Amino acid sequence: MSIAFSRRAAILGAAAFPMIRIVKAQSRPKFIAISSANRNNGGVNACAKAVEVMKAGGDTLDAVIAGVNIVELDPRDNSVGYGGLPNEDGIVELDASCVHGPSRRMGAVGAIRNIKTPSKVAQRVLLDTDHMFLVGEGALRFAKAEGFEEENLLTEESRIAWLAWKRSLRDKNGHTNWGPGLDAPPSQQKHGLLEDLRRDFPHVREAILAQAVDYAYNPPHGTINCIGMNEKGEMSTVTTTSGMAWKIPGRCGDSPIIGGGLWLDQDVGGAGSTGRGEENLRVAGAHTVVENMRHGMSPKEAALDALKRVARNFDNDEKRLALVELSFYVLRKDGEYCAASLWKSDAPGFAVCTDGHARAEQAVYLLERKG
Ligand code: GLY
Repeated sequence: MSIAFSRRAAILGAAAFPMIRIVKAQSRPKFIAISSANRNNGGVNACAKAVEVMKAGGDTLDAVIAGVNIVELDPRDNSVGYGGLPNEDGIVELDASCVHGPSRRMGAVGAIRNIKTPSKVAQRVLLDTDHMFLVGEGALRFAKAEGFEEENLLTEESRIAWLAWKRSLRDKNGHTNWGPGLDAPPSQQKHGLLEDLRRDFPHVREAILAQAVDYAYNPPHGTINCIGMNEKGEMSTVTTTSGMAWKIPGRCGDSPIIGGGLWLDQDVGGAGSTGRGEENLRVAGAHTVVENMRHGMSPKEAALDALKRVARNFDNDEKRLALVELSFYVLRKDGEYCAASLWKSDAPGFAVCTDGHARAEQAVYLLERKG
């Protein structure tokens, strides 16, 4: 009886499992890209581009890199590439990393200067070297050897924001070395930061000056992560950023750290992050999310679990956590995806393109601000 049952089960199984696979293959979009939202529709444009490249037969890593290149080259996104906010010396330093799922190869650059598209340099590290991670002067020399052109990455907007930040650093008497001297006429002294900027940059739009003041007091984090999958189920991911505004030269956050700012296992799925890299590194975020999925969690459960670990590192003290922004973007091998943020936000949480339809969607979240 039991043998008969086993045989029947085996026959049923042989017939049923291919059917299940077919249903799954049909329900998953053929081409998917997911990314952070970014300014000026940057994420939606990046995902649309990534899917366009994959549909045309392009490799998944070429596709996601083509997507984020749009944002790297856009001077209006001041958290990524050209136009990124600089370090404390006023120099833009960029970080990027990438994973190619099918070959399981990886590459990264950290604190690289003067190159607009660090994601492409990370890909050259992956393809053309026996190393995985180049930083600083060595990364720049490598990029130049690979034919990349050195360019000034500091836009006028970013320079004004940097000057505003320097002027915001005052002693207890309100004095800053970066303002009118003690011998200047009284009418020029001790104004607010915005008034000082208006005086010194009379031709610059008010919105830009106000934004510079905001950035001086609230240094932003940006970054873009993009994960793509083609009709064969091949996946790749890339993360690129100018990192924390006003950072100490040489500071790298999570974005160039493979396993932190991104991770991808072709057998399971991929994850990437934006936000305060230091907190993500303390939970090896992207790797944690993918391992959670390997052990059976859905993308949403996997990302929220990683965010709970971040909260745990602060003893779940919401007052201190209020200073932390962190989000994960997740794409599982079966096509299920999500983004999850530490804090609830009404802003679009992430971008996604399934087949040809690119759009913004809301992220799930762990915590909600009170009041
Ligand atoms: N997540 C970007 C950074 O912290 O540099």
